[in-house]
Amino acid sequence: MTNETFTIAIDGPAAAGKGTLSRRIADQYGFHHLDTGLTYRATAKALLDAGLPLDDEAVAEKIAREVELAGLDRDILSKHEIGEAASRIAVMPAVRRALVEAQRRFSTKAPGTVLDGRDIGTVVCPNAAVKFYVTASPEVRARRRYDEILGKGLTADFDAIFEDVKRRDERDMGRADSPLKPADDAHLLDTSEMSIEAAFQAAQSIIDAVLSRNA
Ligand code: C5P
Repeated sequence: MTNETFTIAIDGPAAAGKGTLSRRIADQYGFHHLDTGLTYRATAKALLDAGLPLDDEAVAEKIAREVELAGLDRDILSKHEIGEAASRIAVMPAVRRALVEAQRRFSTKAPGTVLDGRDIGTVVCPNAAVKFYVTASPEVRARRRYDEILGKGLTADFDAIFEDVKRRDERDMGRADSPLKPADDAHLLDTSEMSIEAAFQAAQSIIDAVLSRNA
C-alpha cells in the first residue's frame, strides 16, 4: 500500500457474499476491484484448455505468471469444474507466489482498491486500511448457490452443492500455505442471518470511520 492508496481486504469462504459486497464497496468509493479467485480460476482454465496436468507445480507456476488481470471474465470462469481445479492448484506455493505478486501490484492503484479472496488480509495486503472477514454457515452458503442456479432456470442437487461447499472449505482452510482464516484485525461480518445489503451498510460505516480518521 502506498500513502495515496486506500486498500480494503475482504476474505471469506466460497458463497459467503464477499463478491457482491466487494463490488458494492468498490462502486460506492470509486475504487478498483479485483476478485482474486479469478486469478486462480484463470490459471486453472489455461491448464485445462491446454490439456496440461493440474499437479505439476512448475508448469502451473509458468501459466500463473502469464495470467492477465485485465482480461479476467467472471462469466467464463465461474464454471464449477474450473472452481474445483482452481482450489487444487491454489495449494501450490509457487502458484500462490506468482499470483500474489500480481495481486499486490494491483492493490497499489490509486485512489483505492478492494481485493477479495482467501488470504488478502493475512498475506497479500497485511497493511490494508480496512479488513473484513465475510462468512456464513455452510448450509446458508449452499442454499444461496442452489437458489442462484435455480434462478437461472437450471436444475441442481442441494446435497451435492452442500458437500461441495464443505469440501472446498476443508481444502481452503486446511492447506499449509496461506490457509483461509480471518486476519487478527479483520472485522467479522456473518451473513448467515444478515442480508448482503445490511452487511454493506455495516461495512460502509467502518470504512467511513477509517477514511475520516485518515483525512
Ligand atoms: O473465490 P473463488 O471460488 O472464485 O476461488 C476459487 C479458488 O481459488 C478457491 O477455492 C481457493 O482455493 C482459491 N483462492 C485462493 N486464494 C484467494 C482466492 C481464491 O486460494 N485469494
